[in-house]
Amino acid sequence: MSVDKSSAPLLSTEALVGPVIDASLDAVVIADLAGTIIRANPAADAIFGHAPGSLIGKPIGGTIVPPHLRAAHDRGMAHHAATGERKVIGRRLELEAFHAEGRTFPVEIQIEEIAQGDQRVYAAFIRDLTERRAMEAEVARQRELIHQQEKLSALGALLGGVAHELNNPLSVVIGRAAILQDVLAGSDEERTITKLREAADRCSRIVRTFLAMARDGRPRYGQVDLNDLLVGAVEFAGYDLRSAHIAVTTEFDPDVFAVPGDHDQLVQAFVGLIINARQALERRDGARTLHLRTQRKDACVRITIADNGPGMAADVRARAFEPFFTTRAFGEGGGSGLAIARGIFESHGGGITIDDAVSTGCAIVVKLPVGKGEAR
Ligand SMILES: Nc1ncnc2c1ncn2[C@@H]1O[C@H](COP(=O)(O)OP(=O)(O)O)[C@@H](O)[C@H]1O
Ligand SMILES: [Mg+2]
Repeated sequence: MSVDKSSAPLLSTEALVGPVIDASLDAVVIADLAGTIIRANPAADAIFGHAPGSLIGKPIGGTIVPPHLRAAHDRGMAHHAATGERKVIGRRLELEAFHAEGRTFPVEIQIEEIAQGDQRVYAAFIRDLTERRAMEAEVARQRELIHQQEKLSALGALLGGVAHELNNPLSVVIGRAAILQDVLAGSDEERTITKLREAADRCSRIVRTFLAMARDGRPRYGQVDLNDLLVGAVEFAGYDLRSAHIAVTTEFDPDVFAVPGDHDQLVQAFVGLIINARQALERRDGARTLHLRTQRKDACVRITIADNGPGMAADVRARAFEPFFTTRAFGEGGGSGLAIARGIFESHGGGITIDDAVSTGCAIVVKLPVGKGEAR
């Protein structure tokens, strides 16, 4: 059977092109010379947030162009109508568009002028860039994060060495300052050399605390001056505490200068407690205080770390020492600070509790035995 091709009816241009325009994933908006929309495909309705078909008959400038660009849009249309000069037409542009909900969003747009006889229209092909921009921003954020992490791990790898390097010159400064302190005792320069000595001691404590934080977990027991250790921990966190406007007060019992223990492990535990207090205090609006106290009691030393932050609710308090229990946002704390601290204090024959009696804030109480050699 043969088919007579010439008898098949030709599709009209509209019948052919109309469904193609309607199927487009990008918005297609056609306007007449006055800027009135004469055709908009379903993607245009969806992208600009208008009811299906409702864009027809509306002015382009007053609907999909954001208010702050409308005057420029109208001027551009008038200029083109008067001179035929093509500034925008035929070029691919990235612009802001206006959503029916009253917000602007980024689009990529190409406008074509289509002339047939003495009829002219503008056809705009518009692509919503919101998702692409969000993805680009996310990629940029991730890249910045990786960059920061790389820097941090490089810094971490080097800082341990730097701290060790600082130890030697620092001990020279401290040793010479001590000699000069003796030589200059009673003279006009005594105050100056005392200040120098104190500053050098402070540097040395910060370096020691840093090295203690960086050290591996193998226990190394000795005699620990707890007051000195706590001063070091506060100085180590000093910048953090100052930038959070936390006033630190201390009340140290001079009798706790020699407690048997692992200096570095104890530093790690106490720094964790101080950072917890700082994080809690950041949630407080009024004056922020952190109070550290040591007390010698019989065969025990009692250390209190009290902040006037929001404190712990009963349900948090009940679970605070559980490993991985945290109330913090992802990435802000792994929930092991208190669990590790408890492990360290218990391995010293002591313990850690949360003081129930305080009415505001949170007070952590640590008990450590002074050991047989120290009993008096
Ligand atoms: N000083 C404090 N004030 C109020 N809540 C605290 C304090 N210290 C600890 N907490 C609570 O105990 C939880 C567990 O603390 P921690 O074991 O150090 O883990 P992390 O600090 O990683 O959350 C914290 O998430 C917080 O809710
Ligand atoms: Mg913590």
